[in-house]
Amino acid sequence: MGLNVPQFIDEAIGEIRRQVEGRAVIGLSGGVDSSVCAFLAREAIGDRLIPVYVDSGLMRQGESKKIAEMFSDFNLITVYAEDRFLSALAGVIDPEEKRKVVGETFIRVFEEEARQVGAEYLIQGTIYPDLIESEGGIKSHHNVGGLPLKMEFKGIVEPLRELYKDEVREVARGLSMPTEICERMPYPGPGLSVRILGEVTRDKLAVVRAANAIVEEELNSFLPWQAFAAILGKATGVKGDIRAYGYVVAVRAVSSRDAMTADVLELSWDVLRRISHRITGEIPEVSRVVYDLTPKPPGTIEFE
Ligand code: XMP
Repeated sequence: MGLNVPQFIDEAIGEIRRQVEGRAVIGLSGGVDSSVCAFLAREAIGDRLIPVYVDSGLMRQGESKKIAEMFSDFNLITVYAEDRFLSALAGVIDPEEKRKVVGETFIRVFEEEARQVGAEYLIQGTIYPDLIESEGGIKSHHNVGGLPLKMEFKGIVEPLRELYKDEVREVARGLSMPTEICERMPYPGPGLSVRILGEVTRDKLAVVRAANAIVEEELNSFLPWQAFAAILGKATGVKGDIRAYGYVVAVRAVSSRDAMTADVLELSWDVLRRISHRITGEIPEVSRVVYDLTPKPPGTIEFE
């Protein structure tokens, strides 16, 4: 049976109203989950909702500007925390530790903002697959298994915890949210940090951000579930007769219904070649581009 959207919206608004006393902070990432939560929460508690966007430095190209535009009528608080995230991530190479460091840093920033405005509740866009993957020990989604054990909040409110992504999109349409938000590709909370295998540095972030922008530009019209780039490591290449020890960038493009399983997009050779040429041509630090052929399972969608 499909989701009864109007009923879900009414019940979610009621639940938020019952759970939140006083003010609540919501972390907005620009993705459909947190955006839907923000729309529901605004209906439920009006200006007792304090929306916070944390620019972690792990965001996609142009994302901060886009989020400011998308939520221009929301009194958004923007926190610039790139240095803080990068110092917390310095030296961290284990993927699960990375997720925990990012999850904890987000929570500490939200706690500080909440303290300043006297909010005791945190609203999060956690969805069902986030819970399943974290509890099943597959990977700690930053908003579930990546959370610290001790938090200052009196309550965490998760109105979407029983929904799959396609149901969240239905709710978004039911709330008449802008199409751009309803149909956006999923993007992981730990952002570009899980698209860099090994240590996250400013230089690698710049490279992977540029590569992600090219992949999205080239593949958006294929309507993938997700299409992105990740840095796998370094390899020897040759550019203009000179040895180039550069980054290996993997391109990943998948179709999926709910992110629990995924198939690789069968792209034409022309499309793949064009992406490879653009990435090695436009990003001097990259010496090699590969296309990931692994479905989920046995792979996961993100690399870490
Ligand atoms: P995986 O990589 O486990 O990802 O196949 C399944 C889906 O979840 C997204 N993802 C996340 N979303 N917080 C999120 O909000 C996270 O920590 C996280 N990790 C992965 C991923 O992009 C894919 O759509």
